Amino acid sequence: MSGITYQRGREPHPKEHRVVFRNVDRVGWDTGIDTFLKEGGYEQLKKALGMERSAIIDEVKKAGLRGRGGAGFPCGVKWTFIPPGNTKPVYLICNADESEPGTFKDRYILHQDPHQLLEGMIIACFAVGAKLAYIYIREEFPEAAQIVEKAIAEAHAKGFLGKDILGSGFDLEIYVHRGAGAYICGEETGLIESLEGKRPYPRIKPPYFPAAMGLYLCPTIVNNVETLCHVKHILEMGGEAWAQTGTKNNTGTRILCVSGDVKKPGYFEVEVGKVTMGEVINDMCGGLKDGRKLKAVIPGGSSAKVLRADETFTVGRGDDARQLTIRDIPMDFDTMAACGSMAGSGGVIVIDDSRSISWVLNNLNNFYAHESCGQCTPCREGSLWMKKITDRVVAGKASPADIDTLYGVAKNIDGRTICAFGEACSWPTESFVEKFRDELVADTKPELEGALVSAEPLTAAAGLR
Ligand SMILES: Cc1cc2nc3c(=O)[nH]c(=O)nc-3n(C[C@H](O)[C@H](O)[C@H](O)COP(=O)(O)O)c2cc1C
Ligand code: SF4
Repeated sequence: MSGITYQRGREPHPKEHRVVFRNVDRVGWDTGIDTFLKEGGYEQLKKALGMERSAIIDEVKKAGLRGRGGAGFPCGVKWTFIPPGNTKPVYLICNADESEPGTFKDRYILHQDPHQLLEGMIIACFAVGAKLAYIYIREEFPEAAQIVEKAIAEAHAKGFLGKDILGSGFDLEIYVHRGAGAYICGEETGLIESLEGKRPYPRIKPPYFPAAMGLYLCPTIVNNVETLCHVKHILEMGGEAWAQTGTKNNTGTRILCVSGDVKKPGYFEVEVGKVTMGEVINDMCGGLKDGRKLKAVIPGGSSAKVLRADETFTVGRGDDARQLTIRDIPMDFDTMAACGSMAGSGGVIVIDDSRSISWVLNNLNNFYAHESCGQCTPCREGSLWMKKITDRVVAGKASPADIDTLYGVAKNIDGRTICAFGEACSWPTESFVEKFRDELVADTKPELEGALVSAEPLTAAAGLR
């Protein structure tokens, strides 16, 4: 990027387009407010405070910014869900739980550019009328919490937070809340319960859509760290100009986190839909490890459905229909959904031919069985059953029929739970069985058909944790 130098070996790839990550790994950059102010920091806040609240929301809508936390829901539209005529306090929560395996972008923003987030949050709070906001930072990020606390104190000292911000009459406090160390604390209603000091049992939606009934049953906007950072850039560029980056309905930039079997894993901010999976793996990440072949990719965090390397995907309809290989898939929300998976949190997990599919799936199932909050039966029991079955597969103690049972368990979780964790834990199993059944079956033993075999001690097999 012009005028900016980056630490050696950490320069952005030429195919990147850095906006939110502009200052990440930058030489001479630090998290202090003076550095931020020297580069035009808090100027967009000053502009926002002179605007009508609805005009700010309109800019965010025009930008078409979609949430970067996982679901890709339009941010400006969410902000309008606060009930008209509401008389209760409105809250804003920044979701910095970053718990989705394969995702490691928010941490870099918190560590290296906390004022960018604060500026975005203050503008968002002003727009939605929130006078109190929280940054829910996952328990595993203690350093991030300290850095953000310091940034909040600096913003306070300069009059960007507190009473009568910059003489505008607008009051706002932002507090850091340390997470409780569970994946489910990233689910927005579980997060809200946790923030209220309770066990993070997700709430049923409807009626508990946070924008209508969130924290303390008051209207609450929950947005991801990266989403909130974009707000200041949208004001700076104007919604329409911002929407010129990226592609139609998939506007702006987003940060991809690539892990797994590539030569150079890492984070890359790209225009949404302007780079393909092949470019990400082969160009940006230096390709697969020597002598290896691509086997599969999980494209949007561990709960996204797996894509097989040799699949052909049909996207578009009628005259617009086209066939894509995995390498042709543009990294955007809609195409990834059309290919049967999701762009999710931007965590791309690359799997090469050295990996056993049974091992990969078992790894995922271990995670989900551990992280289910236990509130609803299909998820609590099913996630554990799926783990136990794949435990048996990797231990060489499963029969071919176990793979059908595994699939049946996943199908019976999907769509039958209080929160989307149910899908998050069943989609890996569903998609792995649908796409790699032969390999999973090959790891089983036909002679065990009908036998009651466990890879675990009896108590665990009986469901006693
Ligand atoms: C099981 C589960 C875990 C989640 N974890 C996170 C997370 O760590 N960070 C996050 O921003 N969103 C997470 N989400 C999505 C949030 O519920 C919510 O949609 C998001 O924070 C909204 O922000 P956005 O609209 O800016 O994307 C999770 C969702 C589920 C179902
Ligand atoms: S789906 Fe799972 S994580 Fe979500 S509420 Fe039910 S038991 Fe808890």
